[in-house]
Amino acid sequence: MNGEVEPEEKLRKGLEGVIAAETKIGYANGSDGKLFYRGYEINSLVEQSNYEEVSYLLLYGHLPKRKEYENYASRLREQMVLPDEVYSLIESIGGKAHPMSTLRTAVSYLSCFDKEESEATIENQERIGVGLIARMPAIVGAIHRIYSGKPIAKPNPDLGYAANLFYMSTGTKPDPVESKIMDTSLILHADHGMNASTFSALVTISTMADMYSAVTSAVATLKGPLHGGANERALKMIQSIGHPGNAEKELKSMTEGGGKVVGFGHRVYKVYDPRAKILKRYAEYFAESRGNETFRTAEKIEELMINKYGERGIFPNVDFYSGMIYDSMGFKAEIFTPLFVAGRISGWVARALEYSRDNRIFRPNALYTGEKGPRKYIPIQDRD
Ligand SMILES: CC(C)(COP(=O)(O)OP(=O)(O)OC[C@H]1O[C@@H](n2cnc3c(N)ncnc32)[C@H](O)[C@@H]1OP(=O)(O)O)[C@@H](O)C(=O)NCCC(=O)NCCS
Repeated sequence: MNGEVEPEEKLRKGLEGVIAAETKIGYANGSDGKLFYRGYEINSLVEQSNYEEVSYLLLYGHLPKRKEYENYASRLREQMVLPDEVYSLIESIGGKAHPMSTLRTAVSYLSCFDKEESEATIENQERIGVGLIARMPAIVGAIHRIYSGKPIAKPNPDLGYAANLFYMSTGTKPDPVESKIMDTSLILHADHGMNASTFSALVTISTMADMYSAVTSAVATLKGPLHGGANERALKMIQSIGHPGNAEKELKSMTEGGGKVVGFGHRVYKVYDPRAKILKRYAEYFAESRGNETFRTAEKIEELMINKYGERGIFPNVDFYSGMIYDSMGFKAEIFTPLFVAGRISGWVARALEYSRDNRIFRPNALYTGEKGPRKYIPIQDRD
C-alpha cells in the first residue's frame, strides 16, 4: 500500500497486539509471570550467572565457554574508561540537567570520537554496541558523582561490571551483598520484549543508522514516566506517603477518578512481575539490616493495591522495589533510570543486531482523519 490507510482499516493504538519483528532473544510469559533470556529463566541466571555472562548470552545466543567469557569480559574491561572529553561534558552539565538528559547527550557525544561510526556492517555495529555496553557504567557513575557534587571515580580494573558501576557511582567498593544485588538488578533489567525503548532502537537501526544513534533513541524513550522513569517516581511516592498508617487514605485519593499508582500494573504481566518478586527480597534484606522504614510503607501499599486491583491483574512491577534498593545503597533517585539503562543496554544492542541481520525499514501507516480536500488556498491578507 502506498500512502495512508483507508478508514475501514483497523487502527491499533500504541501498536498493541501488532507483531512487528521476530526474535530469539527473550520471552516474557505474562500469564505465568515468567521471564526467559534465550530460554533460560531469569531466576536461574540471577542465582548462577553474572551480568557479563548474561550480556554475552543475549548478544551471541549461547552461554560462553570459559575462553569466550574471558575474551568478552576483557573487551568490556578494556573499553570501560571514557574519553576525557566525555568526562568534561558531564562535568560541564553538572547538576543543571536531569541525569537521563546528560546520559542521552553523553551517548550521542561518544559517537563523535569514533571515525568509523557510520559504517553499517553487522561487525561494526557489534563493535560499537559492545563498546557502549562497556562504557555505560562509567557514564552512569560519572553522572551520579557529578550530580551529587562529588569528584569523578575512574574504573577500578580489579572489579567486575556490576561492582565497578557501584564503585564509580558511590566512590566506595561494594560489599559482597551490595555487589550481588547490583549484579542481580542489572540482569533483571537486561531485556524485556518489544518494550517502547527497544522498539525505538529497532526503528533507528532499521534505517541503517549507527548503533550510537539507536542507543540514543532508546535512552530518550526510556526517560518517560510510563517507562523507565517510573522507578524514581515510585520511591518518591512511597516516601511521600511516609508511614503504613497513611497508605489507605493516600491511595484512595490517588486512585479516585481512575488515577494510577506508579510501580503497579504492566502491559504484559497480569500476575506478580517475576523481577519484582526477586527485588522485593533484597528490599526486605535492607529493611532488616539498615532499618529502612520505607519498606514497611511499601508492603502496606502492596497489600492494599492487591486487595483492590489484584483481581484485575494489577500487581507490583519491577519499578516498585528497585528504587528502594538503590536508595538503600546510597544512590540518588534521579539516577535510578540511568541504572536501568546500565542493564538494558545489552538487550537493546542484542535486539538491534538481531534485527539488522534481517533488516526492513520500519514504516507503518497512519489512519488519515483530516480534511480530504482539495481546499482552496486563501492568501494571508484575505483570511478573516
Ligand atoms: C504500565 C502501564 C502503562 C500498563 O498499562 P496498560 O496495560 O496499558 O493498562 P491500562 O493503562 O490500559 O490500564 C488498564 C486498567 O487498569 C487500571 N490500572 C492500570 N495500572 C494501574 C495502576 N498502576 N494503578 C491503578 N490502576 C491501574 C487502569 O486505570 C485501567 O482501568 P480501567 O479499565 O477502569 O480504565 C500502567 O499499568 C501504568 O501506567 N502503571 C503505572 C506506571 C508504571 O508503573 N510504569 C512502569 C511499568 S514497568
